[in-house]
Amino acid sequence: MSRVLKDKKIVIGITGGIAAYKAAELVSSLVKQGALVKTIMTKNAMEFISPLTFETLSGNPVYYDMFSRAGSWEIDHISLAKWADVLAVVPATANIIGKVCHGIADDLLSTTIMATQAQVIFAPAMNTNMYNNPIVQGNIEALKKKGYFFISPAEGRLACGDVGEGKLAGLDDILQAISGYFSRKQDLKGIRVLVTAGPTREYLDPVRFISNPSTGKMGFAIAAACAGRGADVDLVAGPVNLSPPINVNMHSVETARDMYDKVMELYPACDIVFKTAAVGDYRPETYHDQKIKKGSSQLVLTLVKNPDILQELGKRKKEQILVGFAAETQNVAEYAREKMQQKNLDFILANDITESGAGFMNDTNKGVLITHEGEIVEIPLLDKNEFAHRMIDEVLKRSPRLAAKTN
Ligand code: CTP
Repeated sequence: MSRVLKDKKIVIGITGGIAAYKAAELVSSLVKQGALVKTIMTKNAMEFISPLTFETLSGNPVYYDMFSRAGSWEIDHISLAKWADVLAVVPATANIIGKVCHGIADDLLSTTIMATQAQVIFAPAMNTNMYNNPIVQGNIEALKKKGYFFISPAEGRLACGDVGEGKLAGLDDILQAISGYFSRKQDLKGIRVLVTAGPTREYLDPVRFISNPSTGKMGFAIAAACAGRGADVDLVAGPVNLSPPINVNMHSVETARDMYDKVMELYPACDIVFKTAAVGDYRPETYHDQKIKKGSSQLVLTLVKNPDILQELGKRKKEQILVGFAAETQNVAEYAREKMQQKNLDFILANDITESGAGFMNDTNKGVLITHEGEIVEIPLLDKNEFAHRMIDEVLKRSPRLAAKTN
């Protein structure tokens, strides 16, 4: 019997699909492994399987009604949301995925998902064409970006007779995903992290600005990874096209000076800073209140220097650990080391943006983490989420001060 699940509080949400009966086996297995299990059924799920099955297997009443008072003063969707360590929706229909993705909370399961801070895991099961519908796929992608976890369905013969992807994942895969959450390190609990991400905009007039193509993905991935590992995370981001990761305090800014102000406000309380943002080094000297009209054949812009946020953090540094980023096109390690000295950093992550797969416009990254002592740690080409975890692992290993704080 796995000890990982012992006394863990797990809510299983059952939605209306033919695979609902498989959730019974899951509940039974979780209970056998020592987990404390409560179940929420949607009205449609009850068409497929009786609540009595789950009541018997979990040893707890089945929750399904938003307004049942059942002698309790607590509001079910709030108390279940708070109680859960993990909330797994098995099977998850296209309907529940779509509702959660679009903020619709109209029954006990969807309101509980909306109200919980627990890790939510979806195990989709539906007809292949439905699963592959771009709307459903888009919803899944959007939820993944927000930190919801999906257990991909298996391929096979579906209840409707079609063959393809859409069959509920195997019981072992679902159990593994749930246990995986609990065995994941919470090694940043008690740590306050500040992450900056994305580009800045430096306005010439109300409709024009100077910026750069940073997508913010690396910074968002770092923020999500830190939050997943238990840290309190503030994310200060320039204009990007990404939704905030869950459990992260999001601060949106536009210009380098806005970013400077927000970062300086948050800095004293934080333990570590990941300064991923691609900050504009210069801004137009003059801002025109009215749109600049097309006139002579040349327009000369005078730019003035923006504050170097990271350099200022280096000057004000007390106990904080500073991780800078250097995107270079040549002499990568040399320029990165210079920046580390100049800005009084503890680490710098350097990448050569001319290499394929590295840099700010990709979903992947690759680079070297250079320590203050001159050690060079290579981080291979990885998806930005994995890259973030790997970089955090390497930083944490070499930061006894942080490790001591988390123990
Ligand atoms: N940085 C900052 N404020 C600035 C410029 C840069 O905080 N005004 C930070 C970036 O977030 C990054 C690091 O400094 O963590 C290095 O940024 P980079 O643009 O590579 O270097 P610069 O110092 O701007 O030098 P250069 O543009 O000459 O390479």
